[in-house]
Amino acid sequence: MNEKVTLTTASGAPVSDNQNSRSAGVRGPLLLDDFHLVEKLAHFNREVIPERRVHAKGSGAHGTLTITADITQYTSARLFEAVGRQTPLFLRFSTVGGERGSADTERDPRGFAVKFYTEEGNWDIVGNNTPVFFIRDPLKFPDFIHTQKRDPWTNLKSPQMMWDFWSHSPEALHQITVLFSDRGIPDGYRFMHGFGSHTFSLINAEGIRSWVKFHFKSLQGIKNLVPAEAARLAGVDPDYAQRDLFSAIDRGDYPRWRMCIQVMSEAQASARAENPFDVTKTWSQKEFPLIEVGVLELNRNPKNYFAEVEQAAFAPSNLVPGIGLSPDRMLQGRVFAYADAHRYRIGTNHQQLPVNAPRCPYQNYQRDGAMRFDGNGGSAPNYEPNSYSDSPKQAAQYAEPASALSGSAARYDHRADGDYFSHAGALFRLMSIEQQALLIDNIVGAMKPVTREVQLRQLAYFIKADLAYGTGIAAGLGIDPCEVA
Ligand code: HEM
Repeated sequence: MNEKVTLTTASGAPVSDNQNSRSAGVRGPLLLDDFHLVEKLAHFNREVIPERRVHAKGSGAHGTLTITADITQYTSARLFEAVGRQTPLFLRFSTVGGERGSADTERDPRGFAVKFYTEEGNWDIVGNNTPVFFIRDPLKFPDFIHTQKRDPWTNLKSPQMMWDFWSHSPEALHQITVLFSDRGIPDGYRFMHGFGSHTFSLINAEGIRSWVKFHFKSLQGIKNLVPAEAARLAGVDPDYAQRDLFSAIDRGDYPRWRMCIQVMSEAQASARAENPFDVTKTWSQKEFPLIEVGVLELNRNPKNYFAEVEQAAFAPSNLVPGIGLSPDRMLQGRVFAYADAHRYRIGTNHQQLPVNAPRCPYQNYQRDGAMRFDGNGGSAPNYEPNSYSDSPKQAAQYAEPASALSGSAARYDHRADGDYFSHAGALFRLMSIEQQALLIDNIVGAMKPVTREVQLRQLAYFIKADLAYGTGIAAGLGIDPCEVA
């Protein structure tokens, strides 16, 4: 037999028999000294790692970003340095609320998380297929997600929990309008746009900062599923989106997205009445037109799902010089949340795993920890400052320009600005009559099982966004709009 294909234990010893456990006699009990049996059972027990608390079900692929336009006036980030430059990337799509085995065709936002392996470290955009989000303060995220998960009593998904929370969170109305529109159930992952959603910053070589939003426009176009077809697929092909993405890439039909930015100067931001760092709102594309930056293509399926997709760890804190955060407080919450989730879900050295590791040299004074497998810094010093000229040193040229902050520390009411409805109303009015009817129908269907108290509270928001929007839903629920406070 060829030595190269001999089955071995994890420690490399040849296995003589993988069919029969060692027993005391032909009919006797098994022996504890059968380490192959013990190792096999024990390793199997540890095959599952915690699923992501949100976005547990997902699909991923490798690809490239090719720069098509010069934006060096806004950013010094090396990946945007020259037209034609290519950066390898890994992208994971996902649904949000369901478990790891849930159906791909649920009405839910879709995750759109990209890791760019740049020459200056990994840059992650951990976005969604929606330009906005449900809440404005990270303090509300665990509450919100609890309502999207199972009722602790019945262990069932609960429309009552969802609408109860939303009816106390008027800032969610814009994202609710997106979620219940025709775009709320995309036809797989190829036919939808991606958004960074938050406002981020770009910093140029002169240290000038601009505010930026990232968009990925599907070059396949937009395709959505009607609810009845989505429900049918959830039964007959719950992995519909995984199958679609994998098959397309496998047959060489590589999906592509146009990467675009919207840019706002610091002066424009300070002069705006509306908070440009509020993730429940979009920026007007008339005032801040889309600027094309590059083309993102997915062209390689993972060789192993667990190694590359399940262990992938995306974090908004993964930034590179020339790209930074913004005062969006949701983004600050996320800077903490993701790396913390990865330490729990995968381990403290998760960044050394091949799918997460930078593809540029990296060196620091972090040492040890579970599953350290990159040589651990060898014999180099593990402290700094030190007397060794060849040991890694800070590099002041990468400092971000200072940001002006002011104000007294307090817990300010994040709902104080009062405008929760204008963007939702504007989106409703942008829709065709058919899209409006579908939106109303979807919401009516979702709100029917909910208590009247919650229906009335929520209806008031729809009416404030647009009278036709609110009265349409009221009619569907059999409620006289005059009853709504
Ligand atoms: C995944 C927290 C808001 C997009 C996650 C995970 C956590 C989390 C803990 C699991 C990470 C992991 O185990 O790898 C939060 C918190 C938020 C927030 C605390 C608000 C304060 C958002 C927003 C977006 C978003 C606004 C999109 C604009 C995603 C995506 C994933 C994810 C795409 C899946 C990443 C992947 O594919 O591995 N989030 N999230 N999240 N989140 Fe959020």
